[in-house]
Amino acid sequence: MTFPTTIFSKLDTPFYYYDLDILNQTLKAIHAETDHRKNFHVHYAIKANANPGILEIIAQSGLGADCVSGGEIEAADMAGFDGQKIVYAGVGKSDKEIRIALEKGIFCFNVESLPELEVINEIAHEMGKKAHVAFRINPNVDAHTHAKITTGLNENKFGIAMEDMIPAIRKAESLDAVEYTGLHFHIGSQILDLSVYVALCDRINELQDILDKEGIQTANINVGGGLGIDYDNPDGNPIPNFKEYFELFEEHLKLREGQQLHFELGRSVVAQCGSLIARTLYVKEGHTKKFVIVDAGFTELVRPAMYGSHHFTQNLSAANDAPKDKYDVVGPICESSDVFSTDEVLPITHRGDFIAFRSAGAYGEVMASTYNCRQLPEAYFSE
Ligand code: LLP
Repeated sequence: MTFPTTIFSKLDTPFYYYDLDILNQTLKAIHAETDHRKNFHVHYAIKANANPGILEIIAQSGLGADCVSGGEIEAADMAGFDGQKIVYAGVGKSDKEIRIALEKGIFCFNVESLPELEVINEIAHEMGKKAHVAFRINPNVDAHTHAKITTGLNENKFGIAMEDMIPAIRKAESLDAVEYTGLHFHIGSQILDLSVYVALCDRINELQDILDKEGIQTANINVGGGLGIDYDNPDGNPIPNFKEYFELFEEHLKLREGQQLHFELGRSVVAQCGSLIARTLYVKEGHTKKFVIVDAGFTELVRPAMYGSHHFTQNLSAANDAPKDKYDVVGPICESSDVFSTDEVLPITHRGDFIAFRSAGAYGEVMASTYNCRQLPEAYFSE
């Protein structure tokens, strides 16, 4: 990726910079794998990046949306996503949010508990509507990823246990304002070991056999999201391996006649197109370490502080062949966790140098905060 540093020098830092070429190539790669598989439907997980400019491009490309709040449903609507392609998940949907979803006529609620099912039924009944519901089943499959982004284990708060699947479906059948239309799964995020998805397919196949025996028909299977990206080498692997990912489901999942398969991809769609751009404020020589102190902190990109993640870090102002040194790259926030990386090897860095934190298009801008009375970062787009 190339960065327009001359333009950057006229801008206040820190800010997010989105390379729309990368975003468009990523969307093209998804469409190349899903357009001809007519029963495959991709819903972009808005939680990964809800910048209106990004959302509009994704909506225009024809993807649906995966939302986890009333606010996300409204953002999807504003960006032009088709309401009929919106799925709505979350363990704690409020009455107000359920009403918003019903008003927009969304495709489906991914229901996470029986009390939630009853409330959706009551509200839909009151509004004279029928809510399409899918049950989020907790498949107890280990995603082999970071503990804080693992969701499909029995100990996680998400979904309904497998043993409770049939009673939940029977319950839905007994209610007048909901219609059972599918099963939903999501086992975690930043999944690079694709065998985890084979295990998920095997589990879904088992569950479908049980449903067949009960004579229950399921129109939709939703396998969630989670496909990981290459944080270490964003320029080498700017586009995730969608071919392998989608083929895996085609090969391993035994879909029933007419069954539709849904995906909720977030990170893999937007991570590589975005970078956080900061300026170096000071280079401080400690007794044991050298610090590059930049003007961005965990207020702009919380992933390193929250999950211990590392974002590939570049000094955009230094010549390629400049001699290198080792630094801890830190932000200005008054907390010791405000560290982007330790022992980062960078070209010798000076005050004023631009630093790019790469692969920050997902769970970057959208998780920014105003802690320390800081302003939310601006966003700029290529072209
Ligand atoms: N579907 C459901 C039900 C989800 O909970 C999530 C993400 C997704 C889809 C999209 O997953 P993706 O394709 O983006 O992996 N803030 C964390 C990630 C949290 C993921 C939450 N759920 C991070 O920065 O790594």
